[in-house]
Amino acid sequence: MARIVTIDIRPECKAFEEEQIHVRIGSQSDTQFLQSVLDEFGAPDVVLDDGSHHHDDINVSFDYLHPRMARDGIYLAEDLNGGYWPQLGGGLRSPNNFINRCKGFVDEMHAAATLYGDEVVAETDITRTTSAIHFHDSVVVLEKTPYLNHTMMIIPPDDPGRA
Ligand SMILES: C[S@@+](CC[C@H](N)C(=O)[O-])C[C@H]1O[C@@H](n2cnc3c(N)ncnc32)[C@H](O)[C@@H]1O
Repeated sequence: MARIVTIDIRPECKAFEEEQIHVRIGSQSDTQFLQSVLDEFGAPDVVLDDGSHHHDDINVSFDYLHPRMARDGIYLAEDLNGGYWPQLGGGLRSPNNFINRCKGFVDEMHAAATLYGDEVVAETDITRTTSAIHFHDSVVVLEKTPYLNHTMMIIPPDDPGRA
């Protein structure tokens, strides 16, 4: 049976609680509140951010929850088109635009490959945990996997054993 834990800043959302659906009231950018939800329910398998759509909030939630979710967890953020709008904390080239951060995560996912390139990307938590990043219109999906060993996938250009 699925257990769905939702958070919302509006207290009236409590009315939507059911046997499988838990509602906790607080802000997605309040990390103490997020921790209280993790303490109560444990590490989430799936996180879907459909909250304020302000990229300040999207980034705080991601930075806090993504490292704390299940090792094979899936993180989705939707309605990211606002990342191009300054009024939602974004902009085409803004580093706060979560879509831009996710473009950078693609390079971090391939950090081991960059060891053989012209510029090395430092290994990060994304390198160590992420096996797939899906871009849809206004939605990004990041898949974690506990079995990552990116170096096994790399055939360096000067590897004598290369076919
Ligand atoms: C686009 S609605 C989505 C609601 C729900 N996910 C659904 O699909 O019906 C966005 C929700 O985010 C809530 N919200 C706005 N700012 C928030 C914040 N900082 N933290 C948590 N929830 C927030 C709003 O109250 C609103 O209910």
